[in-house]
Parts: sequence; structure tokens; C-alpha cells
Amino acid sequence: MKKTAMLLSAICLTATVFSGCARTSDIPDNPKNQQSSSEAAGSMKWWQKINAYEIYVNSFQDSDGNGYGDLNGIRSRLDYLSSLGVGAIWLTPVYDSPMEDNGYDVADYYSINHRYGTMEDMDALIKEADEKGIKVVMDLVFNHTSDRNEWFKRSSENRDNEYSDWYIWRDPKADGSEPNNWRSIFGGSAWTWNEKRQQYYLHTFASSQPDLNWENPDVRNALYDVANFWIDKGAGGFRMDAIPYIKKPSGFSDGPVDDSEGRSDIHKMTVNTDGILDYLREFKEKVCVGHDIFTVGEANGVSPDDLKYWVGDNGVFDMIFEFNHMNLEFDGAETWCKAGSFELSDLKKALTESQKATASNGWYPIYFENHDKPRSINHYFTEGSDPVLAGKALGTVLLTLRGTPFIYQGEELGLTNVSWDSIDDYNDLNSKSQYNIAIKEGFSEEEALDFVHRFSRDNARTPMQWDGSENSGFTTGTPWLPLNGNYKEVNAELESEDKSSVLSWYRRLSGFRRGNDILIKGEYNELLNDNKDIYAFERKYSSARLVILVNFSNKDADFDTEGAGISDDKEKILFSNYGDNEGKEARSIKNLRPLEAIIIGE
Ligand code: NOJ
Repeated sequence: MKKTAMLLSAICLTATVFSGCARTSDIPDNPKNQQSSSEAAGSMKWWQKINAYEIYVNSFQDSDGNGYGDLNGIRSRLDYLSSLGVGAIWLTPVYDSPMEDNGYDVADYYSINHRYGTMEDMDALIKEADEKGIKVVMDLVFNHTSDRNEWFKRSSENRDNEYSDWYIWRDPKADGSEPNNWRSIFGGSAWTWNEKRQQYYLHTFASSQPDLNWENPDVRNALYDVANFWIDKGAGGFRMDAIPYIKKPSGFSDGPVDDSEGRSDIHKMTVNTDGILDYLREFKEKVCVGHDIFTVGEANGVSPDDLKYWVGDNGVFDMIFEFNHMNLEFDGAETWCKAGSFELSDLKKALTESQKATASNGWYPIYFENHDKPRSINHYFTEGSDPVLAGKALGTVLLTLRGTPFIYQGEELGLTNVSWDSIDDYNDLNSKSQYNIAIKEGFSEEEALDFVHRFSRDNARTPMQWDGSENSGFTTGTPWLPLNGNYKEVNAELESEDKSSVLSWYRRLSGFRRGNDILIKGEYNELLNDNKDIYAFERKYSSARLVILVNFSNKDADFDTEGAGISDDKEKILFSNYGDNEGKEARSIKNLRPLEAIIIGE
């Protein structure tokens, strides 16, 4: 498993740009960067120096015309990924599954979903990716399985077999109703009745996703076996799905009612229950120790005081995805019809808090998109914002904060939300459920659809936009989900040829970040924190620093140059998403244009 050296040299040597065979070395690094890049960031772990990339497998690249992305499709795009400086790809679940939640409902952790290919394809992907310095990161869905998993089938047969205690079964209340009033994350009761057992089972998500019983050591050992199987296959890491829910509080008592149906949000009742860390320490010991892999937990709601137990020297994971900056419009529960709004100041506060939280111990992934959220251009910028400037502006933040950037497929192209005419056009089960919740809460069909337009997970799940041909080069068949209608104008092929595109910007900044001590190791300090339009911060390492300034508004925004500590005539604009002021002396600028993003350095 010790392939770090190979990985690093491969990152440096083999990447290509989209349409030709140019190598990563053709991606322009800032010349200032070059002296440091050979030894830079020497003591860091490999996964702290790379860009990671999330692949929503269904929608990335179809190779066999069945309309779904697949493993061989990913193999055919490895050079594209290298061109973005990608050193790890996180694949959404590829296991056998009835696909009710697009793979987050696993029927068999040891086999590949037939839509995606075979185990041989998987082996080939891991090998070929490895040769290009790209590790394959598996998504471990360990809070629950599919109800079509053999484990669950056996468990639901009766109360007295080897698997009976593998899930969370409870008797009804005296009146026959559910054991408690918890509402699942996808809406409705978190309990479903099973005729055979004459009992309810618990599901944090959909009823087809029964929660595993982590109290049972047999369950835990079976899961560790799964993880070890994938390490033996050559996985470079794991993303741990829904991990804060694995431990349930004893007693299973009712929670405070927070909806019109008398239910209580399961998230608030079960997230990070005391004792969870014992399980995760066991996972670390039995799976991770001794392997050169990384783990990243999908772990929202970890308090600042507890963070040291989750990441860092004695943490259970290498990184955790926290949600604060992603859920700014929600107060706890992500019920779409209850969403509020947020200001740039809220985003700045959330980002700064997470940067500070890991300043001396621990490491975070940096991300603004994933397969569960709308596109970031729509999420973080006002309607009507220029998508190219906005995409580059947020990309600037993504690639310059401290942490491992996780690019989500299509983010590097500046992809935007869709808004389809009817709820029936949507595939995502949570969109349908949130639509129904909104109707129950008294909203009109039109209003309910507006919430779906704003938050649907399908916004980020439309197929990748590779070129201007039919179905954008994603498939020769019928795509499982319609493409975004703008694919003829916004696609990887066109953007590869256009130096001012979002993709070219990502490639440039990724080249700049690679091996750059300031960006990889440097400390973070927020600047101009009272400025309502501009997010500004510096990254400092030794005596060198970079200043990043991003105007999130659609108007000119003034700022105090001295307040940003820019007084030295050596500080120049190294990067600008407008392009026309690169090389200019930084202290001469007094404002940023709409959505302007600049990086200042010597
Ligand atoms: C989080 C995953 O990211 C999401 O897509 C999924 O629906 C839930 N966990 C349930 O597994």
C-alpha cells in the first residue's frame, strides 16, 4: 500500500488537459511557486497536498450506452482528472443496490452494481488510476443497508436467528403506534412496520434503508471486514456516509414535537450520541491503522470541544465534512420549506470558524458542492450573477483555503441548477419527499416546486457536460436524468479551449496550489471581516504570504488596502478572474469589480 512516492511523482508527470495529451507540467504554475515546489510541503501527508474530486458515478461518464455512468467511463476520463491536479477520486457507492437512493442503499458490499460494470472493471480502474497518481476512495455506507440486503432479509424473518439483532427492531407502543415520534431525515416516521416480525424497524433515512445495529459486535466486525476487503483491493481511502448516526441513545424516547404531524427530527435525537467514538476508535484500529489511506467522515454537528477526538493526532478520522457553511439557511433540520436566507457575513463566519478549529490540530476537507446540495453558483451568489465570474470566484476560495479541496464533478465547469416543470420530472427521493412535506405544511404546488428548484439534489446530479454533441458526450443512450439544457454552451471541450473559462481557471489555480507551501501549510487569517461584500483572507507561511480577496456581490465593492495589510510595493496581483489586471501593483487597487476574485502575492 505504500505507493505515496509513486503517487506524487505521477501527479507531477502524467496529467493531461482535456482534449490533447499535454501533461500537468503544461498547466501554468505561477513562476514564483517553482523554486519551492520540489521540496514544498514535505512533511505533510499525501492527502493533504492533493485535490480530491467527487464522482457521482451515475452521471459522470457512460461507456456502454445504458444511460448510466460507469467504471469504464471513469477510466476513460482519468487524464481529465489529472489535468485538475486530482490525486483522489471519491466514488459514490458502486455496490450492488436496488438504487432507490442511487447506491446509498447497499444490497451487497462485495459486488459491483451491474449498471456500473464488474469487479474486473473496478480492479482495472484502481490500477490505472493508481498509475496516474490517483487513489480511489470508496464510499462506506455503514449506518444502514438496503432492505434488499441479505442481512436484512434474514433479520426480518423472525426474532430468533443469527441476524435477528443486526438491525434496530422495537415493539409498538401500547396503542400499536410507532415506538417513538422520530421523523426520518427524508420525512415521515423513522419506523416501518414489518409483518413477519410484528415489529417496527428504525431507518434514519428512507424506509428502504434500515439502520444497522452497531451495538452488536457481529455487525461491527462484518462492516470492518467489508472495509478491509476494499483496502486489500487497493482503495486509497474511505468516505464514511452518515456516520454521526450510527450510535442511538438508549431508551428511544420521544423527542420534542417540531412539525404539524407530532414528530421530532431524528437528527437532533441521535446525532453524535455519547459512545459513538468508541465504535469509531475500534474502526480505526481494526481497519485503518497501518495502511496509507485516508478517511473522511460525513460528520456534521461535531462541537468545537469534541473536534480533537474526531480529527488530528488522536482523532478517529483524518478529515470530516462539516456542514456549517453548507446549511446556513437551515436551523438544524433541513426541511426545505423552512429555509431562511443568509448573508455573506454568515458564510465568512462559518468558514473562519472551521479554519480556526483545525489551525493547530486536525485537517478539514474544503468543499462547496456535493451530490446532496444544489450547485454552488446558485447557492452562494444572487440570482442573475455571471456564472463564469461566480464559478471562478468560488473556485478561488476552494483552492486557496487551508485543507484538502474536494471538487465536485461539474463544479470546475461552472455548472448551474436546473428547474424542471413538474415534481414528476425529478428522480431524487428526497426532492419528492420534501415536496410533499411542503404541501402538508400548507404551501401551494407552485411554492413546493420552487423549494425543489432551489434545493433539489438533482441540481447537482445532471450528467456531466463533456461536449456539445447529443447528450454532451455523456452517453450514446438515453441519460438516466436529463442534462442541463445549457450543455451546448457550457462543456468541458469548449472550456478547455477557452483560457477565460472556469475550467481553465481551475487548472491554473490547481497548478499554482500544487507544492505551494503557503497554500498547503500556511496559516489562515481572515481580513476585512466587517466588509459586507468581500471575503478576504491571508495565507502565511514563514515570511511569505498570499492575500485572497473575493467580491461576492454584483456591484463594485470598496475595501481598505491597508486593512488587508497591503502596503508593500512588491505585492502584485498574481491572479484575477477578470484577467486584465494581473501583474499590477496590489496597493493601487481600491475596490473589486462585481464578483471579482484576486490573489495577491510577491
Ligand atoms: C448521505 C449521502 O450523501 C446521501 O446522498 C444519502 O442519501 C444519505 N447519506 C443516506 O445514505
